[in-house]
Amino acid sequence: MARIVGIAALLTIFMCGLHFRGTCSVSRTAEGQCSRTVQDITITQKDEGIGVSKKKWGVTISNPCLCTVQDLTVTCQGFDPAAQKIDPSVLAKQGDACLVNNGNPIRQNDTINFTYENDVSFPFAVSNGQIACS
Ligand SMILES: *[C@@H]1O[C@H](CO)[C@@H](O)[C@H](O)[C@H]1NC(C)=O
Ligand SMILES: *[C@@H]1O[C@H](CO)[C@@H](O)[C@H](O)[C@H]1NC(C)=O
Repeated sequence: MARIVGIAALLTIFMCGLHFRGTCSVSRTAEGQCSRTVQDITITQKDEGIGVSKKKWGVTISNPCLCTVQDLTVTCQGFDPAAQKIDPSVLAKQGDACLVNNGNPIRQNDTINFTYENDVSFPFAVSNGQIACS
């Protein structure tokens, strides 16, 4: 039994890492699924067709959980938000990471969106942040 649960958990992690992030974030809105860590933040990317010359990607960073997250950074090595004309109060370079939402609190159900253009999607992932659970 424990083994089946383990396999199911592994499968969920696997699917969340691939193209099923939408499904993943839906199930996480059940508060029991929240880990109360910054890893509760979900990052989904949507293929929005062709932009000016390359593929356009829409990114949504959201917090489905009760705890508020601030000073959120995402992995950003090799990604230049300024070159992508992303508002720096949305996403700004900070060393190898990018600061999200100017470091301001991201509360439950808040979403932060931006788009960029590249041939392939950039593998954004949560890097760091402060979590506050009331
Ligand atoms: C966030 O959304 C969930 C699911 O729709 C809802 O149950 C919850 O009350 C919302 N929280 C806030 C703070 O709006
Ligand atoms: C971000 O995009 C999502 C999905 O398209 C949308 O539901 C949400 O309202 C957007 N949030 C903001 C702040 O524009």
